Amino acid sequence: MRAAILREYGNEPEVVEIDRPHLPNDSVMVEVHAAAINPIDWIIMAGHMQQMLPYALPWTIGYDVSGVVVEVGSDAAGIAVGDEVFARADGMQAGTMAEFAALKATDLAIKPGNITHAEAAGVPLAGLTAWQALFDKGGLKEGQRVLIHAGSGGVGTLAIQFAKNAGAWVASTASVANQDLVERLGVDQFVDYKTERFEDAVEACDLVFDMVGGDTLERSFDVVKPGGTIVSIKGEAPEGLAAERGVSFHAFFMQPNGDQLSDIASLITGGAVEPVLDSTYPLDDVAEAYRFAESGGPSGKVAIAIR
Ligand SMILES: NC(=O)c1ccc[n+]([C@@H]2O[C@H](COP(=O)([O-])OP(=O)(O)OC[C@H]3O[C@@H](n4cnc5c(N)ncnc54)[C@H](OP(=O)(O)O)[C@@H]3O)[C@@H](O)[C@H]2O)c1
Repeated sequence: MRAAILREYGNEPEVVEIDRPHLPNDSVMVEVHAAAINPIDWIIMAGHMQQMLPYALPWTIGYDVSGVVVEVGSDAAGIAVGDEVFARADGMQAGTMAEFAALKATDLAIKPGNITHAEAAGVPLAGLTAWQALFDKGGLKEGQRVLIHAGSGGVGTLAIQFAKNAGAWVASTASVANQDLVERLGVDQFVDYKTERFEDAVEACDLVFDMVGGDTLERSFDVVKPGGTIVSIKGEAPEGLAAERGVSFHAFFMQPNGDQLSDIASLITGGAVEPVLDSTYPLDDVAEAYRFAESGGPSGKVAIAIR
């Protein structure tokens, strides 16, 4: 099968012929229609995650997938040949930028029927991250105030919609070029992070969802109420700051979760949430697609069409 692989750390991905993956008993084989790009991919390809994720090279890239089940492992329950599914692959089953991918049945959900495979492929990693940050770690409730940084990105575009659907008041930072997009997604207050200090514009939040880190994370402590929460997917807070301000702080890495992905799929099917797809590249142009995504050009997701 054709697949996008990383041959050596520091290289761009290349498209080659490789064998189909092995199918473990707890997994299903998916004929991949689309995959999607995430920042973790280029962080891994640059060699920055070698200790935490010691992948053997050559390594087939890609965590996000949408496609059709063609084979079911003997212990894989609740899924059938012909089902249209999407997933964030388990870390050891990465390799979705390929014609076939083996995926744990518990990581899969049925793909919403009202969106394309390219749109669906952009949802799992970003959507599960937003879901786990807002609800599992952030405990977001109806009527609360939340600041979501980077609202125009893959995670942010879904986080804004999940928070609005939960009945929260939502402020978001992004570039002015993306103001119309984030306002269309429902934000109550937009802040252009390039020209305004968000801590001067937004106050008394119950929750801040940070995906920028550094100075943005530190300044977020000026926006959250005592007793509130800051969740970061990008870094640790300066030592002692959370205790000093009387707020809870959580930094975490998202996990695949087929049940939560099914909840997200229901919101998409019901029309409450709409995936934001910037562009789709053919597999042969995968290196160019990564250059574009890493440049910060896209609003929302970049997908790779496999078939
Ligand atoms: N820990 C985890 O499990 C986990 C999971 C997913 C993602 N992440 C991390 O979270 C980050 C976001 O992921 P993503 O997939 O959403 O990335 P993305 O699609 O590339 O979006 C990045 C966004 O960041 C915005 N941005 C850049 N600098 C900013 C600033 N100073 N203030 C506010 N917004 C800023 C950009 O907005 P404009 O284009 O409008 O300027 C862009 O839309 C990445 O660093 C990724 O590695 C971590």
